Amino acid sequence: MIIVVKKEANMTHRLLGAESSAAKEKIDQYSARIYNPYQFVAHAAVGAWLYDKEGNKVLDLLSAYSSILIGHNWKVPIRALQKEYERACVGHCSRVVYTTQYADFVEKLRAMTGFDRVLPASDGRSSTEPFVDVCMMHAHHRGIEYPEVILFEDYFHGRARTFSTNALFDQSQSLGKGPRVAGIVVAEHDVEDVRSRINENTVGIFMEIHRGEGGPLFDDGTYMKVHELARERGVYIGTDGIQDSLYRCGYFMSWQEFGEKYRPDATVLGKALGGGEIPVSALVGTEEFMSVLTPGTHGSTFGGYPRGCVAASATLDYLHDHPEVGERAMEIGARFAKNLAGIPGVEVTHRGALIAVAVDGIPLAWPLCDEMICGWRQPNVLVKSGHRHDGYEYLRLSPPTCIKNEEIDSACFNTIRPILELRKEIVGSGC
Ligand SMILES: Cc1ncc(COP(=O)(O)O)c(C=O)c1O
Repeated sequence: MIIVVKKEANMTHRLLGAESSAAKEKIDQYSARIYNPYQFVAHAAVGAWLYDKEGNKVLDLLSAYSSILIGHNWKVPIRALQKEYERACVGHCSRVVYTTQYADFVEKLRAMTGFDRVLPASDGRSSTEPFVDVCMMHAHHRGIEYPEVILFEDYFHGRARTFSTNALFDQSQSLGKGPRVAGIVVAEHDVEDVRSRINENTVGIFMEIHRGEGGPLFDDGTYMKVHELARERGVYIGTDGIQDSLYRCGYFMSWQEFGEKYRPDATVLGKALGGGEIPVSALVGTEEFMSVLTPGTHGSTFGGYPRGCVAASATLDYLHDHPEVGERAMEIGARFAKNLAGIPGVEVTHRGALIAVAVDGIPLAWPLCDEMICGWRQPNVLVKSGHRHDGYEYLRLSPPTCIKNEEIDSACFNTIRPILELRKEIVGSGC
């Protein structure tokens, strides 16, 4: 059933409670202003829901930019960590000595990915940048003086300077950060453009198969063509699976959708790898690709952090035993697409539980998201605006897989659909 609720003139955004307001004030005053958060102050979280101190709740359809795979406060990594705390496990000692926790993690990650070696880190950029570093090191060994690595325009791999010019869609983020890092070549999303940029200095190509931040936009066959081109020209190929892997888009690693033939030389995993509890990321690669990494060539104080390894190992065990998480991700995407179908000027596409809602006829999607989370409908839902592409504004949904069908239906029919249907009025009203 579709409930279309008309906005009354006197209805405004829900007001924050006193404690939430106080927390917001502190952040607005004391934090660097790099985010423009929606008007909700999360204090607790369970499953698919975020709660504020006053008891208001929102359905989290963003999942910390896809870092929460199963749900908030997921018991699997938490129990594993609790056990470790009880036996006074080593909290942190860095990689100056071996640890049993890191041993378990690399063994499991190697087994589940089929790659030979693991370079551990904590956040995304600290695992994507090493792909480029490793390519450059191979070039050095081969005596290439001005090595080049190909990245794609409008693809996001983190905010390292290596990626600052190619991957950010609105100019403001790359402005003022200096010139492009030497050796980075930016290609269009087109295999022929990539082909035209490969030369004797090209060492590697790095791409995200299903783009999370840059859309979302889903593979249209380009990955296979780029992979074939890389093999033909003897260039390394790496995939950024930080957002589209770990079953978010249906497969443990997104390239597996195309079969073993399309295995890259290395893949980066992150976000949900730490079970939503501890930031854990890793570059995993073949023996040959990783061979240039020798003592002293790379390092990270928190790479291989024992407690991070415990959370990640518990997550990997669970995903190993429950491949149906991928099937559930696909069902979730299909349900959202069905529920949101048929709205004039709105097109919904998805790969698993990464869902793109392309919206025509508005200059900005942000006010719609604002209305969804802190407007006047129930249930309020947290949806992030994506980026403009081909004249369309995008909304990005990446719900946790614990979300129930009733929650999806309620969010779609009570909140998302009516707001999309009234979008011109809402955006026009300047809310
Ligand atoms: C595909 C991809 N790569 C890399 C990153 C960077 O991760 P982080 O923000 O943890 O550095 C992100 C973050 O959204 C991402 O989506």
